[in-house]
Amino acid sequence: MTPITMTLIDDNPASLELLSTVLNAVNLKVTCFENPETALDHILTDHPQIVVTDLMMPGMSGMELLDRVMEFDPSIDVVLVTAHYTTESAVEAIQKGAADYINKPVSPAILRQKIGVLIEKHEAARKTQEIEANLAASSEFEGMIGNSTSMGELFSKIRRVAPHFRSILVTGDTGTGKELVARALFQMSPARRGNFVPINCSAVVETLFESELFGHVRGAFTGANADKMGLFEHAHEGVLFLDEIGDMPLSTQAKLLRALQNQEVQRLGSLQARKVNVRVIAATHQNLRDKIARGTFREDLFYRLGMVEISTPSLREREGDLRLLVRHFVEKYAKLYDKRVQGLTNRAQMVLSRHTWPGNVRELENVIGHAAMMSPATMLDVADLPAYLLQPGTLARPTGATELPSLESQEKALLVSAMTKAGDNQSEAARILRISRDTLRYRLKKHDIKSGH
Ligand SMILES: Nc1ncnc2c1ncn2[C@@H]1O[C@H](COP(=O)(O)OP(=O)(O)OP(=O)(O)O)[C@@H](O)[C@H]1O
Ligand SMILES: [Mg+2]
Repeated sequence: MTPITMTLIDDNPASLELLSTVLNAVNLKVTCFENPETALDHILTDHPQIVVTDLMMPGMSGMELLDRVMEFDPSIDVVLVTAHYTTESAVEAIQKGAADYINKPVSPAILRQKIGVLIEKHEAARKTQEIEANLAASSEFEGMIGNSTSMGELFSKIRRVAPHFRSILVTGDTGTGKELVARALFQMSPARRGNFVPINCSAVVETLFESELFGHVRGAFTGANADKMGLFEHAHEGVLFLDEIGDMPLSTQAKLLRALQNQEVQRLGSLQARKVNVRVIAATHQNLRDKIARGTFREDLFYRLGMVEISTPSLREREGDLRLLVRHFVEKYAKLYDKRVQGLTNRAQMVLSRHTWPGNVRELENVIGHAAMMSPATMLDVADLPAYLLQPGTLARPTGATELPSLESQEKALLVSAMTKAGDNQSEAARILRISRDTLRYRLKKHDIKSGH
């Protein structure tokens, strides 16, 4: 097993040697520094799991080093060792996030025992990560992640119908992966040798809809300067994906139904019928039965498309998938943005599990992607999450509202909430946010936040 890594810092060479000898025995790779600034550079690049540092050092104190390490990654365990023990500094260190505070001269037995506990903790965390990685690998299906019962049923249904379908209706809330389902169906069907031709029905101008789907001949209407092939013909021997079918105009619905029934299309302005062999997948987050009742969707088309219906479960119904998805997106965005982020702190994970995810997987992906882009940390923490997740009053956001609040507004909300928690005490608020007091003052001013806001 790869050893746990530790950075050891003490300006006194004799003391440094003593500490490293004591710690030598354990499954640990120790790198020693006499200069705290060099040590910090090393920590920021090599990212050890444990830091053991002297308190009083020229250049940078152990307390300052602790600040900088916590800013970088609060999951690193920092142990302070000092000959100048005071209760005040011990309390300060622990409040700042230190893992432990040890008196010099150190007892080898106590030091070994304390560091041993930290090593075990990191080994256990690593094991959990490995297990989750294996689980994630076995819970992937055509680019979809899921290990819950409802996703298992979805995967199995896709597997069963993909080889045979002519038309399928995919329903489910916004952001639940309907497009991924459509692509999986295509990939697993004989039509994969043809094209996957998507069209977003909510994005097409009504007057151009039919020309898009069926094509036109030159002169069919003003602006039709040349013959044009429609999407149906492009999708010949393949799949036509009608996304947001609920937004298709009624007149187009009638023509679509005819094309599906006859398996042929006529380009606008032409009488020639062309045979097409097209499988159709339609998707919607709307309730088509309601639309039928209101007269805005054709019942006959609904039955034609919905001979097979596949529905994607909302994230709330996917017990246990949240962690897998978080892991998946952390890996994806770490790679994309070239960041060292590896996961979430327990606190941050808890905030995510409490949220109801009205925007489903898309909302989760936005949250993780945004945090991964903005944060330099290895473990994303609560402060890296958008502020609306932290305010219980706003948990039930309207379905469909998936865009994130701006970074500015999140920063402001965090500042206000920290100042409130700190009873308007700036040092305390700075500590909560893990930034320096100067940075806090600068940001308060920037957002025009005054005491008592
Ligand atoms: N099970 C999943 N595993 C991994 N990524 C997923 C999963 N489900 C959805 N996603 C991702 O979430 C985002 C939204 O998915 P998709 O576009 O398929 O949703 P949708 O159901 O079509 O939503 P809408 O109704 O709003 O169009 C995409 O980036 C997709 O890659
Ligand atoms: Mg979609």
